[in-house]
Amino acid sequence: MTASPTASLSAAITVIDHPLLQHKLSMARSADTTTDNFRRLVREIASMLAYEVTRDLPTELISVTTPVADCQVPVISGKKLCLVSILRAGNGMLDGMIDLLPGARVGHIGLYRDPQTLEAVEYYFKLPEDVEDRLVIVVDPMLATGNSASAALSRLKEAGVTSLKFVCLLAAPEGIAALQAAHPDVPITTGAVDSHLNDHGYIVPGLGDAGDRIFGTR
Ligand code: URA
Repeated sequence: MTASPTASLSAAITVIDHPLLQHKLSMARSADTTTDNFRRLVREIASMLAYEVTRDLPTELISVTTPVADCQVPVISGKKLCLVSILRAGNGMLDGMIDLLPGARVGHIGLYRDPQTLEAVEYYFKLPEDVEDRLVIVVDPMLATGNSASAALSRLKEAGVTSLKFVCLLAAPEGIAALQAAHPDVPITTGAVDSHLNDHGYIVPGLGDAGDRIFGTR
């Protein structure tokens, strides 16, 4: 699977240009895609994003005896993983990522946008006890304004997390800029960077409200 790091931006933004992922993302974008298909597509895309976001995990050699011979083979070493879902749409990505990362712990952060201040307000926060020792991969399908993602990353840093990555299906340039300004240390992995945000904060062309489409609440 090839990835395209965008060279000009500071903290890495990696757009996964694999044809399979791009095809599934295109299917997910269509307003005609049903809830069950949308949910399956998000899960499958999330698996592919999990594959890419873990590409640089360190490995170490261990001894294994195959039916034929003894050998030294690589296994993942270093920090254990924690996936953190930004509620509620992030939950749609969890199963696909856990398929590939079955040992990962899972945390949840619930944020809503205050209609007056437009700031992200926390209503739920639950993480594994040893989260500060883990590499935390924060998941949210849509990086739109970047406010929720930025608040979630700040909150995780307050909780002592030092190794962070952010993964989304789709990003707007505005969200990327905001996240990179607030958290230049956090690499972003996405399936695509779209054109812009509209006046309602939706990504254009985007795929609509990811949470509503995953949970069929529209
Ligand atoms: N959240 C969504 O679900 N969709 C968008 O386009 C922007 C934010």
